[in-house]
Amino acid sequence: MIIRQERSSDIAEIYKVVKQAFASAEHKDGNEQELVNALRKSSSYIPVLSLVAQIDNKIAGHVMFTKGRVNGCDVLILAPLSVLPEFQRRGIGSALIQTGHEIAKKQGYICSIVLGSEFYYPKFGYEPASKYGIFAPFNVPDENLMVKFLAEPSSQICGTIEYPKEFFEV
Ligand SMILES: CC(C)(COP(=O)(O)OP(=O)(O)OC[C@H]1O[C@@H](n2cnc3c(N)ncnc32)[C@H](O)[C@@H]1OP(=O)(O)O)[C@@H](O)C(=O)NCCC(=O)NCCS
Repeated sequence: MIIRQERSSDIAEIYKVVKQAFASAEHKDGNEQELVNALRKSSSYIPVLSLVAQIDNKIAGHVMFTKGRVNGCDVLILAPLSVLPEFQRRGIGSALIQTGHEIAKKQGYICSIVLGSEFYYPKFGYEPASKYGIFAPFNVPDENLMVKFLAEPSSQICGTIEYPKEFFEV
């Protein structure tokens, strides 16, 4: 398996991977594949943090980290994360997240924020965002909004998250 930056020639395949991954997901909007396309066209898109997991010539997984803001500071928003059903539980999601964190650290990002399973993301160092005074601009159970600091936690990063507007428009 290799983890690499997505390419424009991957776009159609990524759309299908995201759609299939979320088809049987516990929590979904049903439009995650459209969100990926919209984020890719937005000013929040970060090419080096939009990654695919490739096995032989097939894309088995995908992740996007895009740019949000908290109290005037740039933060990363991890979403969506997708692994094809037949490739799940083999470490692909973990590899996408961990590679993303390594790249993000090198790029100087301070933290990554995710809305997701409290049973999955803590494995990668995610903690409840409320612990740092970081909140979503919508109602969400406390344990599902999480932050992972990639550098020393900064007390400046507190307040309400400004998501890329595509999260509310798609
Ligand atoms: C969530 C998802 C990305 C995980 O990808 P994956 O490649 O199967 O994950 P990994 O194999 O790296 O799993 C790592 C660990 O998390 C566990 N895990 C996997 N999916 C999980 C889930 N949905 N909830 C809780 N734990 C989960 C695995 O058992 C494994 O634990 P272990 O190492 O102790 O055995 C994948 O299941 C998926 O695409 N789901 C549908 C879309 C979705 O829900 N995305 C996340 C939105 S927040």
